[in-house]
Amino acid sequence: MEPILALRESGVLTLTFNRVEKKNAITQEMYALLHRELQSAQADEAVRVVVLQGQQDLFTSGNDVTEFLQRPPGGLDTPVFDFLRSLADFPKPVIAAVGGPAVGIGTTLLLHCDLVYAGDNALFSLPFVNLGLSPEAASSLLLPLRVGPAAAAEMLMFGEPFGADDALAVGLINRVLPPEGLRDYAQAQARKLAAKPSASLALTKQLLRKGQRELVHAAMADEAWHFARMLQGPAAKEAFSAFLAKRKPDFSKL
Ligand code: COA
Repeated sequence: MEPILALRESGVLTLTFNRVEKKNAITQEMYALLHRELQSAQADEAVRVVVLQGQQDLFTSGNDVTEFLQRPPGGLDTPVFDFLRSLADFPKPVIAAVGGPAVGIGTTLLLHCDLVYAGDNALFSLPFVNLGLSPEAASSLLLPLRVGPAAAAEMLMFGEPFGADDALAVGLINRVLPPEGLRDYAQAQARKLAAKPSASLALTKQLLRKGQRELVHAAMADEAWHFARMLQGPAAKEAFSAFLAKRKPDFSKL
């Protein structure tokens, strides 16, 4: 089974995480697939909008933890950063439809989407500190801009999951929907956008993000350096081993 499903219909490319047995944990192979799809969609005039989604009750559990332990990404020349850069720079509208857990990069990638719709079952979390890590995907820059510094500090320092209503209240997402209607709503919104003049939409997106591109790239690079170092550290190793062994991590000596 393909871990990323790509469907092109009525001007909309829908990319679906499809690794349900591992809670849609994202592997380097999946990042590479997403990157390729975005690159080809950027060049394809028939694609006017992208929708990123999981299932009704599952967005993604974030980076694949087993890969983090076995093959930690070391630099910027990796599939995860190819994906993040292609998403951050994508010139056409991107809509995310989030139901269930959206862990780690599952939440930070939303900062690069234009519109985020969530089921009332959505559960966002930024558990980097609890995993002995540090923020990624330019979230240290974009999250405070999006939700304000106070909410950003709370989300990033405690790393506790928060629901769709809280996410809506701080402006992280656009709308909360019943889970069973989420993906249809996202599709309907995508088709509405796909029917609009594409040059106007592209220009609107470009102007909304004016001056941000260089800052976002610099933040990603800076964060990536720290993240790679932290990933090799004892706290991260303890956190990920504990997760895979289904036990609580012990940071008492770290
Ligand atoms: N990487 C690798 N495997 C993962 C994973 C991840 N990010 N998230 C879940 N899985 C695997 C589990 O190890 C388990 O595998 P198994 O069936 O072989 O034991 C399977 O997916 C089901 O996960 P489980 O934790 O039992 O499901 P749950 O419904 O109890 O909880 C989540 C779902 C999403 C809340 C939980 O899996 C979770 O918190 N994952 C996040 C992991 C993480 O720290 N991600 C951030 C990385 S920066």
